[in-house]
Amino acid sequence: MHSESDGDQLKSKISYFLILFSLLGCTGQKPSVQSEPKPFGVVVTVDKYATEVGKKILQEGGNAIDAAVGVGFTLAVTYPRAGNLGGGGFMVLRLKDGRKTSIDYREKAPQRSSRDMYLDSDGNHITQLSVEGYLSVGVPGSVAGMLYALENYGTMSIEDVLMPSYLLALEGFEVDSNFAASLHERIAVFRKYTSTANIFLKDSVTTYEEGDLFRQTDLAETIDRIIKFGGAGFYDGLTAELFESTMIKYGGIISKVDLFSYEAIEREPLVGNYRGYDIISMPPPSSGGVVMIEILNILEEFEPHTVVPLTSAYIKTYVEASKYAFADRAEQLGDTDFYPVPVNALISKEYAKTIVDKIGINSVTPSDKILHQNKAWLDSVETLIKNEGIETTHYCIIDKWGNAASVTTTLNSYYGSKVVVEGAGFLLNNEMDDFAAKFGSPNMFGLVHGEANAIEPNKRMLSSMSPTIVEKDGEVVLITGSPGGSRIISAVTQIILYYIDFGMEPDEAVTQPRVHHQWLPDILYYESGALSDSMIFDLEKMGYDLKKRKAIGNTHLIGRSHSSGIMIPIPDMRRGGHGAIVID
Ligand code: DON
Repeated sequence: MHSESDGDQLKSKISYFLILFSLLGCTGQKPSVQSEPKPFGVVVTVDKYATEVGKKILQEGGNAIDAAVGVGFTLAVTYPRAGNLGGGGFMVLRLKDGRKTSIDYREKAPQRSSRDMYLDSDGNHITQLSVEGYLSVGVPGSVAGMLYALENYGTMSIEDVLMPSYLLALEGFEVDSNFAASLHERIAVFRKYTSTANIFLKDSVTTYEEGDLFRQTDLAETIDRIIKFGGAGFYDGLTAELFESTMIKYGGIISKVDLFSYEAIEREPLVGNYRGYDIISMPPPSSGGVVMIEILNILEEFEPHTVVPLTSAYIKTYVEASKYAFADRAEQLGDTDFYPVPVNALISKEYAKTIVDKIGINSVTPSDKILHQNKAWLDSVETLIKNEGIETTHYCIIDKWGNAASVTTTLNSYYGSKVVVEGAGFLLNNEMDDFAAKFGSPNMFGLVHGEANAIEPNKRMLSSMSPTIVEKDGEVVLITGSPGGSRIISAVTQIILYYIDFGMEPDEAVTQPRVHHQWLPDILYYESGALSDSMIFDLEKMGYDLKKRKAIGNTHLIGRSHSSGIMIPIPDMRRGGHGAIVID
């Protein structure tokens, strides 16, 4: 996997330099902002087929939104562990005239869901029910969201945008080593569900190997129905019939009415400002925008740290700010259509100042002294966050006109609930685990929630997905986001800090190792290389409980180079990805 990542990183750098050379007439001069290169399109995704489709759509004259929708459908075919029709996501858009908007296609709780549906008679959370199988599924939003984007902001026909994904499903594609490995890892769980085994296993025993052709004819037919009937091809008619019968057969609760009534919601994005840069991100039901802007507002009150390597004092300030913001997340954030979340207060500069007053210069405040009303939660969060796969996937696109799309989409965990709709060929999410199954009981990301994120029919579960666009003086400088559950917010925030405060180039900002603290558990997680021995010593002396973990996010990014002014695609080396540049 690493050689693939290295190769892709290298390829993106080579394309970047080739472009610079062609734009500058091969003079070899260091490029400057004044050189005013002709605008071009950029795509970055985790998957080579998806990047190719995005690139082709831009080459054919489509805009960033057409490409984003084509990429989204392609990922559902070629990257089924996270790309999806049976999940949800968020899209933050910056349009060529400078307007910003966001599309919420998060899953919602089925009408027959209830607050205590995952508790046993003693009130204990039956974890398995909210993380795997038919009851863990939220009503999917991806198809509605992507079609909403295409209808309202795209320029191409549904047929043109979806045809590549249809053909990849129908004719198949070659399994690479990465996909083969991911299938092998889940072979035991695929065997548990017949409709899933029918898709992801070759026979009842083995799965696909590198070099095999992987065809998904049921999925192709589902995409064909969407091409023919639009949203009704998924939320009504045969697909909805197949969906409901699968649910009835295996004890799930999603009905045709749930599907038919699902709607994507266009929402005003949150806009913060950090040291002169506009941070445009996702509002609830994502917590991403609120928590990130809250952290940035707090840090803005401190003297900027501008030198690398980072110091323990810098890490300490960042981590303390994160703890307060994540504590607010736990208690106050949920779907604003169901719960009065004080969004504007939480992202205000005034509120940040009140937290700054509590963050001492040298002292560290243990999590149990931070906030909040629900002290009982503090006892229940001994569970360490597991090194689970960083699934979910993020992609970024900008076109030559200046339309930009930052999109994060997910099934929640690796291959979602692990169940496939019989005869329709797509996996379903296990997003219900993002609700508060039991107040104060950590979910699979160790996150705790309360009333604001309690289960209610039709409510959307709180998310950490943080598709973000950063602008300076009205021009896009970063488009980014990440998988990683709660760590998404830390990864995206740190990229912004590294780019703005430390003046790192986009590739350095992505590569720089990260840290993460989410209030509960009271543990400071760090990636290899993030902390030197002396920093570890200092931070432990300050009172932190430190734990190393594999990866904190797997961001993809399009960023404007500080030195050249040129937009560059940067796939994250942590798991690899594929960037492309499209010149007329
Ligand atoms: O919406 C959320 O916050 C989660 N369902 C995202 C899951 C995720 O990033 C999976 N990766 N570990």
